[in-house]
This record gives sequence, structure tokens and C-alpha cells, in this order.
Amino acid sequence: MAYDIDMIKKVYSQMAERVNTAREVVGKPLTLSEKILYSHLWDGAAKEAYQRGKDYVEFAPDRIACQDATAQMALLQFMQAGKKQVAVPTTVHCDHLIQAKMGAAIDLRAANKSSSEVFDFLESVSNKYGIGFWKPGAGIIHQVVLENYAFPGGMMIGTDSHTVNAGGLGMVAIGVGGADAVDVMAGMPWELKFPKLIGVKLTGKLSGWTSSKDVILKVAGILTVKGGTGSIIEYFGEGARSMSATGKGTICNMGAEVGATTSTFGYDESMSRYLKATDRADVADAANEIKEHLTGDDEVYANPEQYFDEVIEINLSELKPHLNGPFTPDLATPISEMAAKAKENDWPINVDWGLIGSCTNSSYEDLTRAASIAKQAVDKKVKAKSDFGINPGSEQIRFTAERDGLLKIFEDLDATIFTNACGPCIGQWDRSDRKGEEKNTIVHSFNRNFSKRADGNPNTHAFVGSPEMVAAIAISGRLDFDPTRDKLMNEDGEEVMLDEPTGIELPSDGFDVEEDGYVPPNEDGSSVEVKVAEDSERLQLLTPFEPWDGKNLTGAKLLIKAFGKCTTDHISMAGPWLRYRGHLDNISNNCLIGAVNAFNKKTNFVKNQLTGEYDGVPAVQREYKKEGVPTVVVGDHNYGEGSSREHAAMEPRHLGVKVVLVKSFARIHETNLKKQGMLGLTFANEADYDLIQEDDTFNFIDLEDFAPDKQITVEIVHADGSKDTIKTNHTYNKPQIEWYKHGSALNLIKKQNAA
Ligand code: F3S
Repeated sequence: MAYDIDMIKKVYSQMAERVNTAREVVGKPLTLSEKILYSHLWDGAAKEAYQRGKDYVEFAPDRIACQDATAQMALLQFMQAGKKQVAVPTTVHCDHLIQAKMGAAIDLRAANKSSSEVFDFLESVSNKYGIGFWKPGAGIIHQVVLENYAFPGGMMIGTDSHTVNAGGLGMVAIGVGGADAVDVMAGMPWELKFPKLIGVKLTGKLSGWTSSKDVILKVAGILTVKGGTGSIIEYFGEGARSMSATGKGTICNMGAEVGATTSTFGYDESMSRYLKATDRADVADAANEIKEHLTGDDEVYANPEQYFDEVIEINLSELKPHLNGPFTPDLATPISEMAAKAKENDWPINVDWGLIGSCTNSSYEDLTRAASIAKQAVDKKVKAKSDFGINPGSEQIRFTAERDGLLKIFEDLDATIFTNACGPCIGQWDRSDRKGEEKNTIVHSFNRNFSKRADGNPNTHAFVGSPEMVAAIAISGRLDFDPTRDKLMNEDGEEVMLDEPTGIELPSDGFDVEEDGYVPPNEDGSSVEVKVAEDSERLQLLTPFEPWDGKNLTGAKLLIKAFGKCTTDHISMAGPWLRYRGHLDNISNNCLIGAVNAFNKKTNFVKNQLTGEYDGVPAVQREYKKEGVPTVVVGDHNYGEGSSREHAAMEPRHLGVKVVLVKSFARIHETNLKKQGMLGLTFANEADYDLIQEDDTFNFIDLEDFAPDKQITVEIVHADGSKDTIKTNHTYNKPQIEWYKHGSALNLIKKQNAA
């Protein structure tokens, strides 16, 4: 596994000084989040106080983690940087590409066959560039990170939204797009808008059927799916200290469901226990030496309203178990009210499946609590009415759970133990019991329950609960079952009740594993060959984008004038296209196919000015490229909102689009365009959008003088020969203009590395 204790000690050795400096600069006591942020500034100790929710700040994360689906394009790009090794400790985890169907052994074999080229590529590229590689079956990225790499006070980024899970061990851990990860791997700073801070004070103590999952289900109900946007949620109080580190991980994990940048907890005994149990006593010792810097200042937690932008208080002693859903994780219903609510909404009462595990809930504590319910069913002769599926979070958890007889308890209820991988949580589930679009209900202990997420069926009503509640409901087979109140009929016709769950925080005999699935990289990877088959349809090595010729751009044709919302999903659709994430040319066949053409209000139907014919956007653009004709994409407000998906910037660039001219950009997409060497402009006068006609040609007549804060003049030539001359703005600074000149940020890095 090889966590980097020297790196952790280095972070800690700087922390006291940096936290003290930050406190002086900010002029008040600090939250934990601020301590971590200010001690990870790219330029070292703080020199100024940043405005939350406003200032863009450059950071130096300690670690990077990538999952197999997003790692493909990230690593293909990194290979362009001309570096020998990644600049920051990095790991790759194969967890998303494994389908759950028959059970672990068969499913893993099938995945190793169907995705072997992707796994081979990821393993070889990891080996070459000093990246730790976790094989298929080794576990789910966030559980493996928690068990091996997360450390209190650290900052990490990961190419997956649930990277935030590592907040359970007191990190600031943030999900990012591949382009951001590539920057950091290549030794560049990582930029983030300084987050706002939401404080959640936890009082009391969990008991009975209530678990840490219910804390976040409750918080989701309060904040809703957007309530945490742009914020770090920091938990504190006696209730926080009373919970296990893995329970804290569950809470942080689902912070992604309220849109939070991340969530975190102050360092405490539970984290020390977890670090020691996972063979990292040296990390716990190092953390203990600076523990006052690994939690918020006392004054902050005493008067949180003064220091957080928003404060929520939850009394764990009064918290009730919840089930959230269907179709959205913020629709929170206490179990006691579910019967009435299900009836009122006509949700299917019979539960087909209970699914336990995922990165959210597969700790030892989770499995023991769920197993304590399953065991009662066996002992009390109650047959489970629903099917059971378990996805352990890692091989270490699976091995330990098997050793301690936990898996056997589930198997006695005919549960299927799936691979240590995402499986049904990411739609990788070949469900045997239902095909088509029948209305049905499932319950799971995962984090997301949007329509189609688990099985592709828009009518599957998925509800999210704690593992023990999922177990109880699956045993009863009914959504309206409240184990605190309702009885079950056993095989002897007797009525029995399930007692409250009991759990064990950490295994008394320690964790164990025979083959953890970790492959360390070569110390010197220079001779390692990266494996990509010439004829692969899923992977393609990248070719550097052409540098700018330094001339004005003239004779550019309009490819599409996008009407209304144009998100990264419209520009680069997901779904079946995800298969081609590692093959830029193939995935470019989805380029802008979701964007609405302003002239006919249709999607993927634009005019080819060379022929007068209409066709799909990628097809028309490929024609222009073949003829050497530059093109322009025109867009509306907030163009490229949605995600940080770098494909949305790479595809048009690959296909030969030269300029994206819009009313306004979503900031991350604008930066991604710049990084890929695209010219991203905004109308100085928004109304000029209306001047653009279907047969227009564009001349960028003073591009040769491209400079920061200098407008670019565009001559629009209409089909009848008439012209409009307009001004456009841009936000390129000097270094970004260098990216443009070199064809991409990576081209420039490569040149600098070669120098
Ligand atoms: Fe995987 Fe689901 Fe977590 S897709 S990383 S188990 S959120």
C-alpha cells in the first residue's frame, strides 16, 4: 500500500507555523477547514485573508486518487506533460468497470476480460509514472483511500465526486475533473474558489437504530441537493467525537449529495483508533503531536455563529432513523412516517432488493451492525423476503468480514456477495429479476438514488438508508416496515421483532488481508511501455494539439449557434459514451449533439455551409476539418455549466473548432477551454448574439495583438455580403496566452520540462 509517512510528517512540520500565520492574517480564531486550506497554499504561508465564496486561490494538494473511468483521459493527458513521474503521490483504483451479476468470482473474471485493455493501460501507465495501482477487485477508491492514505489535516483531490469520503479522517478531500488532477500531477498549482463554511454542531449520542448515515440523511433533508454548493461542511461537538471514524466517513461521503465542496471533522480519538487499526500508528503518533492544529479553535466551536456562514445543530440522541428517496437523496423521511408517505405517493411497497456496501457504507462497523440484524432473522427463523446483495468496500474489509463470519451470516440469508467494487451503485448491475421498465422498489446503503442510477430502469424507486435499516427492510420485504414498532412472521407462524442492531467499531483481531490487490510502481519507469493497442476503440494515445500560427483567424464558419442552456452534458454526453472516455476521436462523435441549434431548435442538426446540407454536429465538423476550414461555436449564457468534464473542451478542439464565442461561460469550462488551447471569447455586447446568422463567416481581425485585457474585434460576414463588426472580451492572462500560443497548457509544460 505504501502510504507516504515522510510526506505526512513534512505537512505536519509546517502546519503549526502556517496555522499561526493564517490566524494572524485572518485576525480571528480559525475553523479546521481554514487551517487546512491556509496550510496548503501554493505560495506557502498566508500573506492575505481570502474572501469566502469569492477569491480564487491556488493550493498544493498532498495526494491524488483516480478511479478507472476518469483516470483514462487524465493519464492520457498527463503523458503529454513530458514528466518522468507524477509530482504528487497518486493512486489509480479499478472499481467502476466491474459489473455485478452472478457474484464476485465470476463477475471479476468477466470484467477482467471485457475491460482488460483499460486495466492493462492503467496498470502500465501507473507503473511508468510512479503511480500506485489498485487492481480490479482490490476495492472501491474511497474505502481504499480511507484505509491506506487519508490522514488528518491533509488535502487531497480525486477524480471522483465522493473523494470527499476522506473527510472522515479529518482531510479536506475534494472531487475534481481530470484536467485539475493532471495539473497537480504535472507539478502545477490547483485552483479553487475559497469555500464558504457551514458548521454542523452535533450534540448527544447515537443509539438504537440510528446511525451515522441518519445524520447525513437528516442534513440532506435540511440543506437539499444544492444547499452545500461552494461550501465545506465542518462537523464538531461531543456528538462528532462520539462517532467512529468510518461513521464520519459516511457523513462526509454523502456531503456530495448536498453539493458541498467537501466535509470534514476535527482529529479525535476515533481517528487515532482507526489509523492504528489500519496499521498506521506512525501517522496517529505524528497527528497527536500537533493535534491542536488538526481541529478548529475552541472559540470557533464555542460561538460557531460568529465563524461559520451557516450553522446547523443536530441532537444525535433525538435523531430518528431515516430512509431518503425515491429519485433524490434529499427527500428525507423518518422510518416511522414511511408507511403513510409511501401510501400517499403510491410508491411500490414490496421491496425487491436490499443492497449493502459501496464506498458510503462498508466499514467493519457497518457490516457488523447489518449482520446483527441478519443473524436475528436466521436465529428467529424469519426468511428474507427481498434479495440481498453486498458490495464490500475493499478486499481488506471483505477478507476480515469473511474471517469473522460476517459474510456467512449474509450468505445464510442467500445474499450474493458481489465484487469489492462499485457495481449497482454506478449502474453496473445486470439485474436478473427484472428487465424493462417495471415499477419496483429497492433499498440500499449507497449515496445516490437518481432515476436509473442503479439498474437503468427509470421506474426503480431506490431508497437510501443505513446498512442495518436496509437489512431490516430487506428481511421484511416491505418499504413500510418500521423495525422499532412492527413485527415479522417467522416460519413457525410466530410473530417476532428484530432487536436493535449492535455493531463493533473495529475488529478485535485486527484487519487482515492476504492479497490486497496493490501493485507498486517501478522505481524507475523509464523503460516501461504504456499498453495501448493500435486498433483499440476505447483507448487512444493523444496527439499534441497544433500551436497557434500567430496570425489572425479568418474565414471561420459557424458550426452551431447553441440556443439556451448548453451544459457539459450537452457538449459531451455521458451514458453509453462513457465507454469511449479514453478514446478522444471516438468520443468526439458525441460532440455538441445535445446542444439546441438556435436556427431550427433541433439537436444535432446543423447546416454544412460548404454543401448546404444538414447533418449531425460531429459529422459536419469533420467535413470542415477535412477541408481545412476553421469553425466557431456560438453559445448563450453560462455555456459549459454542469461538470468539470475535460472532454467537453477537448472534443471541439480535437475536431478543429477554433473559437467558442458566448454570452458568458461557466468558469471551470472556460478554464478547461483555455487549457486545451481553444480561444474562448464573450460578446462585449450580449445583444450581438442576435446578429449571428446561420451562414456567417467570422474574421478575427486583431487576434495578432492578443494580450491580457485587450478586446478582440470580430468581423461577421453574412451570406448577403453585409458585415457587422463587434467587440469581444476574454479573460486570458499572460501565462494563459502562452497556453494558447503553444496549442495547450500541456504543450507548454512539456516544453518547459524539456528545457
Ligand atoms: Fe463507486 Fe458509488 Fe462510490 S460509484 S465510488 S461506490 S459512489
